Amino acid sequence: MDVVVLVSGRGSNLRAICNAIDAGTCDANIVGVVSDRKKAAALGFAQERGIPTRIVSLRKGDDRDAWNESLAEAVAALKPDLIVLAGFMRILGPPLLERFRGRIINVHPALLPSFAGHNGPQDALDGGVRISGCTVHIVDAGVDTGPILAQAAVPVLANDTADTLHARIQVQEHRLLPRVIHQIAIGAIALDPLSVSTPVADEAQSLTVPDA
Ligand code: GRF
Repeated sequence: MDVVVLVSGRGSNLRAICNAIDAGTCDANIVGVVSDRKKAAALGFAQERGIPTRIVSLRKGDDRDAWNESLAEAVAALKPDLIVLAGFMRILGPPLLERFRGRIINVHPALLPSFAGHNGPQDALDGGVRISGCTVHIVDAGVDTGPILAQAAVPVLANDTADTLHARIQVQEHRLLPRVIHQIAIGAIALDPLSVSTPVADEAQSLTVPDA
């Protein structure tokens, strides 16, 4: 199964997928890494590993529709069977969602449907929950709203900060995401495009990162 990974930052999940592939526990082949940020550390790692990389950046004032088209073109040219969002901090638009309907997954640092959005660990602390975790779900046009495929629980400790909680959640992400990819590859998880709704994306919901 050929996979394209979309990243914006550090890329620890990308590394975890590669480690699982190397260990023989994830039956996938990463055919490309696409970033919206030139400075994403994940790109350096991918390049060192010989994985083709593409940058499709979106700066303030850029035409978002054109960016969505460029992103879809860049990803489609790599001919993936599955697209994995691993820390990709943008909402996907119709060009990519429609072309790969039901074949895009995301990892989120909270137990959805609670604490969607870009502050999952802090929101879980603010919400006073005793258990948080991570979720792998199919991507639709909403913010972390698509059908849930798998979750892992992480206890919230009394002295946790968002950073310490996120760090423990990431340990579970690094186990869960490669496992889900493997299960999709071997057909143990069947992605059903018909179950994916594509509500009209609200621009105001967009998760953005500072421009590089
Ligand atoms: C992860 O915590 C993931 O859940 C969230 O963004 C973070 C990405 O981390 N969507 P990394 O870039 O894979 O280290």
